Amino acid sequence: MAKQQDKFKQVIAHAKEYGYIFSSSEIYDGLSAVYDYGQNGVELKNNIKEYWWKSMTQMHQNIVGLDAAILMHPKTWKASGHVDAFNDPLIDNKDSKKRYRADVLVEDFREKINEKINKDIVKAKKRFKDAFDEEQYRATNPNVLRRQKQIDDITLRLTEVQNDNDLEGFRQLIIDLDIKCPVSGTANWTDVKQFNLMFATKLGASAESATDLYLRPETAQGIFVNFANVQKTGRLKIPFGIAQIGKAFRNEIVARQFIFRQREFEQMEMQFFVKPGEELEWFDYWKTQRQHWHNSLGLGEDNYRFHDHEKLAHYANAATDIEFNFPFGFKELEGIHSRTDFDLKAHEELSGKKLQFFDHEKGESYVPYVIETSIGVDRMFLAVFSSALTDETLKDGSTRTVLKLPSVLAPYKAAVLPLLKRDGLPEIAQQIVEDLKWDFKVIYDEKDAVGRRYRRQDAAGTPFCITVDHDTKEDKSVTIRYRDTMEQKRVPISELKSVLDQELSYKTWLK
Ligand code: GAP
Repeated sequence: MAKQQDKFKQVIAHAKEYGYIFSSSEIYDGLSAVYDYGQNGVELKNNIKEYWWKSMTQMHQNIVGLDAAILMHPKTWKASGHVDAFNDPLIDNKDSKKRYRADVLVEDFREKINEKINKDIVKAKKRFKDAFDEEQYRATNPNVLRRQKQIDDITLRLTEVQNDNDLEGFRQLIIDLDIKCPVSGTANWTDVKQFNLMFATKLGASAESATDLYLRPETAQGIFVNFANVQKTGRLKIPFGIAQIGKAFRNEIVARQFIFRQREFEQMEMQFFVKPGEELEWFDYWKTQRQHWHNSLGLGEDNYRFHDHEKLAHYANAATDIEFNFPFGFKELEGIHSRTDFDLKAHEELSGKKLQFFDHEKGESYVPYVIETSIGVDRMFLAVFSSALTDETLKDGSTRTVLKLPSVLAPYKAAVLPLLKRDGLPEIAQQIVEDLKWDFKVIYDEKDAVGRRYRRQDAAGTPFCITVDHDTKEDKSVTIRYRDTMEQKRVPISELKSVLDQELSYKTWLK
């Protein structure tokens, strides 16, 4: 646990030191759960978005893009259910006056029991060494069985109170589990109340005529209200998808864990419209596709796991999370939801406009079902960044900190370094930058000894260093150094572009 916390602190510090992420309005002491992306952060973020965007809209003939406005007609949120049901259950401790999400209190309590099981397993592994059989231990050890039963009971009761929106039952669950406030140490709890997460704002000049609006809490609704526009103007046939990347806003109560849970964040969402009855097949298809996309980036397949929802959202008939092993444990990175025809039907009813697909072969119209894939840009950023940050001890005993970003996502693709600041080497290096900049984002660096420059680029995440030395003048070649292996290769300047093309092409990565 302490190790995890140290790693997380290192991630936050490194993100600041290398111009990736700053607190919002930091000179005024920041704004809680809001962050700015610095000069390197914005590049990494844009590259993540492009990698997703192209995988959706360029790799699939039947997926098109959209960029809907953040502000939408207020009826949108009535139809979608967000006005009535986009709530978090909150509870206050009367002694500390601290406010908590009731579900998070219960989930954290349950996780602590799980941690105890994991500790027992680690101990038993040490004791029994190769003879240890985890499955058998879990099935027979009385302590593990007792704790697992506690976990299962809590899950059952939590699901019940959530599904029934039973706020009194929620409070009773917290009291029965004897959950205490971490600040006051008491169990002196108020009632549980629902709190709507949407940010409200006003449209219009005068208070009397102003209309109440919301900042969108998800980008998906912009896609649903444009379903007919896009389908008709694009002459699209079912099945087809609409993809969108954009900002979303939620007034999160438990906003913590850096950029993992923010009040302003970005989503990459794709709604895939299918024939009713075929949705669960497409749900499986998109689970596989999204898993493939994640694996293509090489962050480590063991760092991902699926978590099927126990409590389905009001619009879903199947749902799963792709969880990632963040520095604070496995948490949701992406959601895949079978949203049925809930949204289109609700918008039809409230707007009075038809949102249907006309099947020419059958001569009939129907409201399509929807499979949604929804991933937070910021969470993907954190997954990429935290898994890339590595401390290494080298063969000679020295250490280095290296940010092993997938090269296709790295802010700078290459740094061009003259070995010395004289003898015409800077001019050759500058010319290489001039030639490569049309195709790749490259940086010129001549300050300090070349070894220090390598380390600086390693820590910033630049995958290739191109060094110009005295031999370059004779053989028109340079040395390419690979960040992760530190291997060096001599390459003719004329071949640099094709070497980088091969390393960075989407075909190499996405295939
Ligand atoms: N349209 C469906 C939807 O919005 P969600 O599970 O609430 O579903 C989808 O959100 C994704 O958006 C999450 O998996 C997560 O990556 C990201 N996300 C949600 N809330 C977030 C927050 N407060 N900060 C950062 N990312 C968030």
